[in-house]
Amino acid sequence: QEAELQARIIAAKKKLGKKLVILGHHYQQESVYRHADYTGDSLKLSRFAAETDAEYIVFLGVHFMAEVADILSRPEQISILPDLSAGCSMADMANLAKVERSRRELSKILDFDATITPITYINSAADLKAFCGEHGGIVCTSTNATKIIEWGFRQREKVLFFPDQNLGRWSGYKMGIPLEQMPVWDPDLPMGGLTEEQIKNAKILLWKGHCAVHQMFREQNITRFRAEHPDGIVISHPESPFEVCLNSDYVGSTEYILKTVSDAPAGTHWLVGTELNLVNRLAEQMKPQGKVVQFMSHVICECSTMARIDPQHLAWTLENLAEGNVVNRIKVPEHEADLARLTLQRMLDAS
Ligand code: 13P
Ligand code: SF4
Repeated sequence: QEAELQARIIAAKKKLGKKLVILGHHYQQESVYRHADYTGDSLKLSRFAAETDAEYIVFLGVHFMAEVADILSRPEQISILPDLSAGCSMADMANLAKVERSRRELSKILDFDATITPITYINSAADLKAFCGEHGGIVCTSTNATKIIEWGFRQREKVLFFPDQNLGRWSGYKMGIPLEQMPVWDPDLPMGGLTEEQIKNAKILLWKGHCAVHQMFREQNITRFRAEHPDGIVISHPESPFEVCLNSDYVGSTEYILKTVSDAPAGTHWLVGTELNLVNRLAEQMKPQGKVVQFMSHVICECSTMARIDPQHLAWTLENLAEGNVVNRIKVPEHEADLARLTLQRMLDAS
């Protein structure tokens, strides 16, 4: 059955020709990832989405990625997510109601728009990107977070960073900001659970959100690896906990991880802290060069929502498109898209 699905995908893709482009995130399972015309991390895929002329952009990734493709492409282009339930649990940890409430709370003690640059990680819904557009803020990805936070400080004295506290903390730490000036803002508590003094002293308010997949990696995984492989090298994604980033030799986006390990000398041994599909694929690719690529955890850390995009959904989507039926279109309402485009464009210009 798998072979039949693969053949159906290839046939439908051929039928659609240049009308179609398939963009694939590095966490996608091999059975669909192999059909992507372009692969990348969130930043690279946003750039592809902004540049393609294809009528249909089929996104092998999660919901916010297909939204970004819709926002950055032209109105007549159509962005499609083969399974609409492929969300991002981290993105869901912030929503407009909570961000608006946080703004109201903070406004009790400071002038929000004059004091705080809101920065949303690209892993967020379009309305949060629009919120940032409306309040002088910006979007970042795992590749450019430090640069974008620096941009934020050029506008105002503080940053509210959502939804990933780990990316915010690691980026702030690299900029030399003391940990006590990056308190965690809990949107479900009055005043974020912080004192007035903590808020006034803060440089970055870190939203209480995280990625459930990267949260599984532990400092002990690294300690054990280093004891067993003294010459081993550790590389992690910045969504990992702070102690993991701190004890890694390299920290960066999915594209950075792939490039760094691929460019490394033959015979090197790597411990990689990011999603399992990427690590398994990289391990296979590096074998001929005698490089060993090891997954950071003994627990299976797979992004279950990324995995919803499977050959069945891809075949069904492409076959419908080939017959002229658009299914699973992702369309961001125009007023939101305009503001979100502004913040994404600010990001692309600043990075
Ligand atoms: P990248 O932009 O590094 O690919 O990260 C996206 C993501 O969702 C990681 O969990
Ligand atoms: Fe979201 Fe984490 Fe999955 Fe990335 S790995 S898409 S942050 S849940």
